[in-house]
Formats: sequence, C-alpha cells, structure tokens
Amino acid sequence: MATSRGQFGTRTGFILAAAGSAVGLGNIWGFPTQAASNGGAAFVLVYLILAFLLAYPVLMVELLLGRHAHGNSVRALTQISSRSSTKFVGATTGFFGIIIASLILSFYAIVAGWMLGFTASYPLASLGFDRTSQWLTDFTIPSNIALMTVFMTMTAGIVVGGVHKGIERWSTRLMPTLIVTLIGLALYVFTLDGAIEGLKVYLLPDFSKVLSADLILAALGSAFFSLSLGVGTMLIYGSYLSDEEHLPSIGAQVALIDVGLAVLAGFLILPAMYVAAARGVDIFDASGALLSEDTLIFTVLPELFTSLGSIGLFVATAFFGLMSVAALTSSISMLEVPVAFIVERFEWSRRRAGTTASAFIGLLSTMIILNFDWLFGAVVALSTRYGQPLLGVMLCVYAGWVWNRQALLAELKKNDANAKHSWFWRLWPWYVRLVCPAVILVIFARSVL
Ligand code: TRP
Repeated sequence: MATSRGQFGTRTGFILAAAGSAVGLGNIWGFPTQAASNGGAAFVLVYLILAFLLAYPVLMVELLLGRHAHGNSVRALTQISSRSSTKFVGATTGFFGIIIASLILSFYAIVAGWMLGFTASYPLASLGFDRTSQWLTDFTIPSNIALMTVFMTMTAGIVVGGVHKGIERWSTRLMPTLIVTLIGLALYVFTLDGAIEGLKVYLLPDFSKVLSADLILAALGSAFFSLSLGVGTMLIYGSYLSDEEHLPSIGAQVALIDVGLAVLAGFLILPAMYVAAARGVDIFDASGALLSEDTLIFTVLPELFTSLGSIGLFVATAFFGLMSVAALTSSISMLEVPVAFIVERFEWSRRRAGTTASAFIGLLSTMIILNFDWLFGAVVALSTRYGQPLLGVMLCVYAGWVWNRQALLAELKKNDANAKHSWFWRLWPWYVRLVCPAVILVIFARSVL
C-alpha cells in the first residue's frame, strides 16, 4: 500500500504545494480589504498573532496526523483511536471534513471562474472580440456555469495527474509565477499617483479598532480559511510527506509564506484602490467604509485598469491571471480531499475518482449558480463559519486527547531524535489539548450566538 501512494518529490515541492493551497483568493482578495477597513497595521498585527498562536498549531495537527497515517482523514482519525466509540466519531469527523471541503470548492470554483473570465476578457477585447469579452464578464447564468466548468476541469486535470506529476509539478510552476507577478504589480502601482495614500491607510495602525471582538473573530476566521484548515486539506498533503521531514519547521515555513503573501497583497490592493480614487473612481460606500468584496475586484479595479490606457490591458490581464493562479493552486488541494478518500477507501483509479468527484462538485456549483441569491451565502457560511472552526476543534481534541502521547512523540522522533527536548514538544501538545479548542470554541460561540 505504502509504495502505491503518491509522495511529494522534494521538500520545496511540498512547501510550494502547501503554500499554494494556503495562498488563494482569501489572501489576495479578502485579507487586504479586511485590514484596510479594520485598523490597518493593527489588524495585520492581530492577524499575525492569531496565525501563529492558533492557526499554526492546528496546521501542525493536520500535518502530523496525515504523515502519521499516510492516509486520508477518516483513516488517520480512526487509526489513532483505540476505542470503538472514538473510532466512530473520528471517522464521522473525517467524513464531514470531506463534505465541507467539497462544499468550499463548490463556491470557490464559481468565484475562480469569474477570475478566469476577467483574465480572458481583456486580451479578447483588445483583439476586437468585444461581444465575447463582454459575455465573459457579464455574470450571467450561462457564463457562470461555463467558466466554473472550465475552472473545475483544470482543477480535475491537475489532480488526476497525481501528487507528484500533477499537484507538485503545477504548484512549483505556478507559485513562483504568482509571487513574481504580485511583486511586479505592486512595484508598478507604487509609481502611480495616490499609491502612498493607500500605503498609509494600510500601514498606520489604528489600535482603537483592534480590541473589538468582531475584529478578532474576523481575523481568526480568515487565518483559518487562509491556512486551509479543518477539512483535511493539509492532512492529506501531510500524508504524502516522507518520514524524514522535520514537520514543525516545514509547517512554520508554510505559515510564513501564507502570511507573508497576504501582507504583500496588501501592498498591491490598498495602493491600487487609492490610485483609483486619485483618478476619480469611487472607493467608499455610502457609510464611508472602503468598498470591498466583489465591488472592489470587479468594479473598482477594472475602472482603474481602464484609466491606465494601453498598459491597463497588461496590468488587468496580469492581475486577474494572478487571481486565477492563486485560486487554482488552492482548488486542487480541496479536490484532493475527496479524491484521496475515494481512491483509498474504494480503490478507484485517480482518474475515475477525480472525474467523478469534480463532476459531482460541479453539479453542486451549478445548483448554487441557479439559486445564487440565497444559496451562495448559505454555503459560504455553512462551510467556513460553522464547518471549519468546529472541525478544527475536533482535530485538536483528537490530537490532544485521543492520540496516545507516546505514539505522538514517536511520530515527532522520526526525524528528530531530540524531539523530546524541543520547544515544540514542550508546548504544542498542551496547546492543542487545552488552549486551541477552548479559544476556538469561545470565538465561535460569540460569532454564532
Ligand atoms: N486557503 C485558500 C485561500 O486562502 C482556500 C483553501 C484551500 C481552503 N483549501 C482550503 C479553505 C480548505 C478552507 C479549507 O483562498
């Protein structure tokens, strides 16, 4: 069994794939505007603290569980259980994770489809295909379904290729492209009038906003979403890691890249918004808050691109291409969750599992598109507001309470004979036992009640 499982070829390949999963629309789109409307650098600070104090330990739960089991989350959680009751609850938790991962992909693919549509629309318009270009950015039901299907097909194509030849290969190609494009765009935007204004909003801390419960909740939610936690994405990636790797430091690198790229995206988005403002584009809503979400991406920024004249074509294509790439390296990690489960549990081929799972999720996406007004928001809330934190708590409980301490230490010792004396072993087990579940639950309860 162990030999027929895929494995990441190199450490860098793994880090890029895991960082690729983490860095997505959440970082480039969600984080910068959240920071801007919630106290700028003060929010960035809270986010950094939460990412390392709460999200990183949960990331380590997933990586360690996955590597230990060298299998999917259902298998991992049953394997560490010794009683039939904990086995049952573990299997159920793993299974829910697979469902939630599929739900997240079902709405993510719609948004990613919009990104693809905008990427293609600029070059097409410049070549004179105005009607096609218009159609791609119209948000109609047919165009939404078509673009989602294209995106889902790309995702499935990579995942069917396997861990090494699909996921790792594409992540090592796409992630450097993403980083270079992001830096290039930010540098370009810095040269335009108004950029400094945006930088100020991003970087001057307003601590009065930081201590609000809402803000901490928002920051925790985005840290969890951003590190792809709870649903078994990182668990399954960890299961393809060799026993020689030192997980605590690999996990830290993934978290650093994720946070680093979110912060970097702020250096692009915020200045870009104020450059747009300097050119007469409205960037505030009626209540005086910065425009965010879809208006920011699909109205404010396109207006900015148009105002740039001929170079706007390249900037726009690069920007939406960047979004599409970020989405793709994330979506493959979501699809891998059900695919790995089907392959391991039912012994289907990757091709059959990948096409079936993506077709099924594509059908879900279609249902969401057809009932967009109420279903889209409901699926987002169900999966990210409820599903992810609750699953995160369960994973911590399993790692902290169910997993035998000696077995856990043995897992850490695989690549670090001194693991017993490491800071990680001193802190982390207590942390995931008590601190993480309690804090996540408190924050969760506040948000739901
Ligand atoms: N982290 C990605 C982002 O920031 C999205 C993502 C990928 C994700 N895999 C996930 C979110 C699993 C939740 C669960 O866009």
